[in-house]
Amino acid sequence: MTHRKKLIAGNWKMNKTSADAAALVRELTAAAGQRTDVEVVVCPPFTAMEGVSRLLDGSNVRLGAQNLHPEKNGAFTGEISADMLRALFVSHVILGHSERRTLFGEQDAFINQKVLAALKNQLRPIFCVGETLVERESGATLTVVQTQLEAGLAGVSREQAADVIVAYEPVWAIGTGKVATTEQAQEVHAFIRTLLTKLFSEPVAQKIRILYGGSMKPANAPELLAQPDIDGGLIGGASLEARSFLELVTAAAVK
Ligand code: 13P
Repeated sequence: MTHRKKLIAGNWKMNKTSADAAALVRELTAAAGQRTDVEVVVCPPFTAMEGVSRLLDGSNVRLGAQNLHPEKNGAFTGEISADMLRALFVSHVILGHSERRTLFGEQDAFINQKVLAALKNQLRPIFCVGETLVERESGATLTVVQTQLEAGLAGVSREQAADVIVAYEPVWAIGTGKVATTEQAQEVHAFIRTLLTKLFSEPVAQKIRILYGGSMKPANAPELLAQPDIDGGLIGGASLEARSFLELVTAAAVK
């Protein structure tokens, strides 16, 4: 079986001024900056990105963005392009997050353009999928995840696919303290890997990391991360403090 290095990514969402971000990153790099057993990514808001990028220089912690616009440049007020991110040494970008889908009306086709633009520009998409509570309760979880996954990854080549990271984030578990049970999470992760096998190939699907996101905390992480198809976490609330985020990094390092 392919060994997939675990990945712990912090999605800071709309939190932290540049000064707050710098303080947090200093703590993170001091404690985990030289780790090679877990891949660590932080995704600050755009305003903090340049300062964080400078602080990450020389460490193994990677820089991620929370969004991008698929066009190269132009009249897109308020948007940020892949080129702008690359210029700050960004390596990852969160795309299709449920907050972008529900609060900002992003649809599968637009998210797909973003995924393709990220890959074309050597940015690794952390591509999010997940069902709402109503969808789960009506038994539509797997159909919803399949639709989002197939639409979001349309046109991605087999070669590009190995750079994709998928995040399964059940919407009802985000910021609610309600975590999916390990069985619920593993079931969807295994389903996603089967879909990836069909879309690309078995070896490619075995390489792709599938992260869990939704109220992941030091207390529930070890059990989730021990599942065969859970390759890391996309962390919101618990990534805003060094202590809890570092505990999650440590949990991911345990074999
Ligand atoms: P919480 O960890 O705060 O539930 O957020 C998860 C998330 O949305 C990460 O992208």
